[in-house]
Amino acid sequence: MSFQNPGGALITGASSGIAAVYAERLARRGYDLTIVARNRSRLDALAARISDDTGRAVEVFVADLGKREDLARVEAALKQDASLTMLVNNAGVGAVAPMMHSDVDRMEEMIKLNVVALMRLTYAAAPAFAARGHGAIINIASVAPIAPDMLNGVYEGTKAFVLTFSQSLHHEFADNGVRVQVVLPGAERIMPVGEMVDAGLAGLDLGELVTIP
Ligand SMILES: NC(=O)c1ccc[n+]([C@@H]2O[C@H](COP(=O)([O-])OP(=O)(O)OC[C@H]3O[C@@H](n4cnc5c(N)ncnc54)[C@H](OP(=O)(O)O)[C@@H]3O)[C@@H](O)[C@H]2O)c1
Repeated sequence: MSFQNPGGALITGASSGIAAVYAERLARRGYDLTIVARNRSRLDALAARISDDTGRAVEVFVADLGKREDLARVEAALKQDASLTMLVNNAGVGAVAPMMHSDVDRMEEMIKLNVVALMRLTYAAAPAFAARGHGAIINIASVAPIAPDMLNGVYEGTKAFVLTFSQSLHHEFADNGVRVQVVLPGAERIMPVGEMVDAGLAGLDLGELVTIP
């Protein structure tokens, strides 16, 4: 597989955790990056480190994806920036307390980020990638939908949406050159983040639709 000039990857929730590692790995594969999150100083520090280490261009995009106006700015970038060839839909929040012990407004905020933002960014990216003839969308779900009795039920429901939505998206866009992969990480104590991301990318290279690292 050639990693020459793969284009640009827009990665959400990249100021820490799983997506910060995706950013580093994709830059090493030759992607220029647009890294999205709320915390500018953490994004700036990551951008400086990755561009120093890899020589790739890293653009910082500060946005709260739970806010419609910020989300719209990221959607516009995906539609208009023809250099973008990959979207990593990673930004998400978790919850472990049982549903009935959880604040319902917080549950709604989680749905806005884990479901609505991921769905809207996909609606922006998939047709744009199809029109350009190629592109890839990596959606970060969780193993929660295949073991839905361990964590908060609303969280598990959001990740079940991500899994089903991704499988359907794959069927709809497979003939248009748009690759879709959904990655189902387990808990960090089971697999360190670096190994998890490397397993996810190995699944991408193998052409998997669903990867359980
Ligand atoms: N870690 C695990 O064990 C695990 C297991 C299964 C699935 N997952 C999934 O993997 C994804 C990443 O998890 P993680 O553990 O890496 O999380 P994390 O370390 O908490 O990072 C979450 C990222 O999302 C960003 N973010 C949070 N709210 C945001 C908002 N409203 N708008 C924009 N960005 C926002 C955060 O940055 P800012 O605070 O700067 O905005 C941060 O960069 C999530 O979707 C999670 O559900 C994680």
